Parts: sequence; C-alpha cells; structure tokens
Amino acid sequence: MTPLDIKTPMYHLLPVDAYTAQDWFDHEQRQIFSRTWRYAGLVEDIPEPGHFLAVQAGLNNLFVVMGRDHRLRAFHNICRHRGTQLIRAVGKTQKALTCPYHDWTYDLEGNLISVPDEAKEYPDGIDKSCLGLKPAAVDVWRGMIFVHPDPTPPSLAEWFGEVDPLLGPHQPQELVEYPEARRTYEIKANWKIVVENYIDVYHLSHLHSNTLHMYDHARAEFGWKGPHYHFWEPPAADYAKALESNLPTPRVIPEPHVGAWVPMLFPGIGLGASEDSWSIFVITPLAPDLTRIENRTKLANASAWQFQKQLWKSSGFWKDFGGAKYQGDDVTGSEDPMASGDFTAEDVYACEQQQKSLTSPYLEIGPASQGESPILRHQQAVLNALGETKQ
Ligand code: FES
Ligand SMILES: [Fe+2]
Repeated sequence: MTPLDIKTPMYHLLPVDAYTAQDWFDHEQRQIFSRTWRYAGLVEDIPEPGHFLAVQAGLNNLFVVMGRDHRLRAFHNICRHRGTQLIRAVGKTQKALTCPYHDWTYDLEGNLISVPDEAKEYPDGIDKSCLGLKPAAVDVWRGMIFVHPDPTPPSLAEWFGEVDPLLGPHQPQELVEYPEARRTYEIKANWKIVVENYIDVYHLSHLHSNTLHMYDHARAEFGWKGPHYHFWEPPAADYAKALESNLPTPRVIPEPHVGAWVPMLFPGIGLGASEDSWSIFVITPLAPDLTRIENRTKLANASAWQFQKQLWKSSGFWKDFGGAKYQGDDVTGSEDPMASGDFTAEDVYACEQQQKSLTSPYLEIGPASQGESPILRHQQAVLNALGETKQ
C-alpha cells in the first residue's frame, strides 16, 4: 500500500453540516457541480445527426445534439422565448427542435428558425438571429461525452490529462456494453459519503472481506493527480492463477493487464476496470441525504462477454472467491444486504448507516487511518473548489 503524505493523526476536514445541511448542498451545486465538466453519456448514445440527450450539470440543464455535420454541440436546455426546457431525456429528431410551449423551433445548430404566427404576434418584427440557443461546451474523452455549462471552459484534456495514464488499459469506446449490468439507483446518503466510501482503501479488507478478496488490497497503489484519485491493486495469488487458465485469448491490453483500476474523478465519477471489464459509476447529488448512481459496464469483446457470463453462471468458480459477509445468526432477514454477497449492496448499506448517525449529537469522528487518507484529500478538494467561504 502506498500511503499518502498526510500527517497522522488525521481528522476529517469537513463538519457534519457538510453532509446534512441544505445550504452546503446549494453551495456545492453552484460552486462545484455548475463549474466542472459533467459526464453526459457514452459516444454511442448519440450515434447520428439529430440524436440528442439532456443532462443536469449542477444548476444547469444542458443537452447535447449531433448536427448534420456530425459534430456534437451542447446548449443550455432553455427556450429563448420564456425559458421552457426544450427537450427531455434522450431522443432523436429529424431536423429541428421545437419547444412544446409555443412551438418556437431551432435547428440542430441552435439557431432559431421559426416563430409561429410571426407577422401577427410580432407586428414590429423579431430578430431571430439574436435568439439562438445559448451554447455550452461538449467534448469527448475515452469514449465518454462530457459537458460544461461555460461555453469556453478549461479544456477537458487538460482537466483529466494528468490522471489519464493511470486509469487502466481499456479504451471504453472499443468495448462492448453489457446491457444487463446497466442500472440506476439511489443511496440515502450525502454524495460525499458515497465518494468517500469509493476511495476508502481501509474498508476493502473488512466490509468486503468475502466479496472482494480476490484482490490483494495490501499491495494497492493509489494517489492523486490534482483533484482526481487513482487506484490500482493486483489480483490475489489464487485468483491470478484462476484468471490465467480462464481468461480469453489473445490478450490485447498492455501490462499490467490484470488487477483492478478504481479511480474517482472529481467531483464524483467513479470508474472501475478489471482484466476484461470497464464500468462507470456516476454520482449525482439529489439532496443533502440522497444521491443517484448510474452504473454502466462494458466488456473487452464478445469472447470476454462469454467469459464473464460463464464465470457469473458457474457458482463453482465464484464460490472460492466470494460469499456473504454475514451468515447464520448474524443475518437479519432474507433482504439483509450484508448477507447478499454483493459488494455494492455492502457499500450502500455502509453509506446509509453512516448517514443515519449524522444527526446524533453524540457523533464524533475518530482519527482517519492511512487507508482513509484519500477521504481527507477529497474533502480538501471539495474545500478548494468551494473557495474560502466555507473554510
Ligand atoms: S417558451 Fe418556448 S416557445 Fe414559448
Ligand atoms: Fe466498497
């Protein structure tokens, strides 16, 4: 394990309010989520001209659309007439985007091209050339589409540049999505608790003692590049041996081609890659104590897909590498997440139980371990992004 250079004893840098109070939440929405690149989707979500998708970036609702020139453009999803949101979710249009309220219509490049009953309703005329949609920024990185409310933000390549080489061997755009693994769910906890759990190295051997023990947590390597966290750990010896005889060939990814890469990009985009898979874990704060997670998984190729299915189906293989943390009398019922043998259920459980204690006047956070030092670094990154006002 590579400890971070933070002096011990280490204590949390954020007060309890940061995890419970509406004013903290609002401040973060303004200062962090409205001012950073926001994941919007994967490139295959917008494959042709006219395809679009909308995404919330802090206080801003944005949408991305592919123009007839096959270029992606992002706009604020706000009609220039009375501000109604133009489009909902994901879809496809032929040539134009029409506001549902009074049918003002924009082309795929954001120009206002038609106003119904123009001569009658605007007898003095209306200058449509000044009423185009307000542009935002869009860019693509590693097969992911990102948007930024500011039309001229610092570049995406710059934002992720330093951490890019440490994110694992996969180029997600070359992988195949595994649709059964796509899901969206909510965690009853503040978004920072979810991030902190994701980057807590200490809990891996404990909360996940039965579910993630195929990796050698003691040899984990982790650190930071700017506000972004990177993490890699090798497989445990017996799992490495099993992989050797089960991995599909030929291997196309460079060394080290086994292990788990689990970075967290600021402010809340978790990635998780293993030998043959890549997944994204998008964290969206919904309320001080509620967070939405969107999960998508891609696999190296069709043979990897077969390989994974075979592993997931063959309980014999996983029996040696997984299982429930709580068994027998410790299990509270058939729905007990700690008896599920699912590491995500274990994480959700831990986050929600932690959030519940935040309202107790008796709560006092103990010193952080070396394995929790990433938590303090994320807290510092949050404070930096919020500026002086909350320090
Ligand atoms: S608000 Fe969009 S057309 Fe009126
Ligand atoms: Fe975990």
